Amino acid sequence: MLRTITTLVASVAVSAMIFTGTAFASGPTVIKFSHVVAENTPKGQMANKFKDLVTERLGGKYEVEVFPNSQLFGDNKVLEAMLLGDVQMAAPALSKFSRYTKQLQIFDLPFLFRDMVAVEKFQKSSNGLELLDSLKKKGLVGLGYLHNGMKQLSSSKPLKVPADAHGLKFRIMSSDVLAAQFHAVKATPLKKPFSEVFTLLQTKAIDGQENTWSNIFSKKFFEVQPYITESNHGLLDYMVVTSKEFWMGVPEADRVVLKKSLDEAIAFGNDVAAKKALADRQKIVDSKRTEIITLTDAERSQWVEAMKPVWEEFEKQIGKDMIDAAYKSNM
Ligand code: LMR
Repeated sequence: MLRTITTLVASVAVSAMIFTGTAFASGPTVIKFSHVVAENTPKGQMANKFKDLVTERLGGKYEVEVFPNSQLFGDNKVLEAMLLGDVQMAAPALSKFSRYTKQLQIFDLPFLFRDMVAVEKFQKSSNGLELLDSLKKKGLVGLGYLHNGMKQLSSSKPLKVPADAHGLKFRIMSSDVLAAQFHAVKATPLKKPFSEVFTLLQTKAIDGQENTWSNIFSKKFFEVQPYITESNHGLLDYMVVTSKEFWMGVPEADRVVLKKSLDEAIAFGNDVAAKKALADRQKIVDSKRTEIITLTDAERSQWVEAMKPVWEEFEKQIGKDMIDAAYKSNM
């Protein structure tokens, strides 16, 4: 009897709360955007721009919370967390998706793209757009590419020709292609999270790393690396992703506004990327903390020759037609 009365009282209370809307007022849908870089980088600024646009257009209904500097998740955990619903958006480097698809490995092939114009051309082509869909089967939606730029090699020793890298330890992102690229020059690659790179360099646990000018500048790698070879040997770009479950759960009209806001934020981020590649390089030069090594054509050819066999090694996983199409974007 007592139990029946208690149950009755509880259910009346719940109905009252539903009726008044107080206990179940859910507030705006929170979109957590997690990334690993500083706020003053192309990705950091893109994420903040997205937040501003969503606040302006859908404020009250959606709230974007941006977590920079690996505060919420490192890139090695973020996709798992996304599938569990603990984070809604992220933009890992294209090198960090190999557990989910082998096709995106194309973007890591050394010396595949001559410059960012070729990268942009390929990403906008039908092949590039097809690759955006390559995560679908794993429950992830590729919403767009975002640029950072071409990678440079930094090291404790001057690197002019591949033989200079023999026996050195380089931090790499979690990519088998990048591992093969360093094996090709008889160096030792170590897959480590971005958040650990500065300390690994500072303590000399590793000899070098590869990254873009904006990452080398914003994370102060140049302060603990006496040499940077301007190799432009590879690409560091991103894919902005969300989970299928979250994305399809958003009402269509809102999804259109979110996607439009994201597209605009990406265009803004790409502009930041182009400007920062030049400006941050110059700040590093001006700091006089590190020597920038420019390769002669003959030296550069040696790197190309040493690393190019990696293409064939991954041809089966990526697809020869895809590699050919990407290569053609240089023309
Ligand atoms: C890295 O791990 O070096 C980069 O992917 C970091 C980033 O997101 O730019």
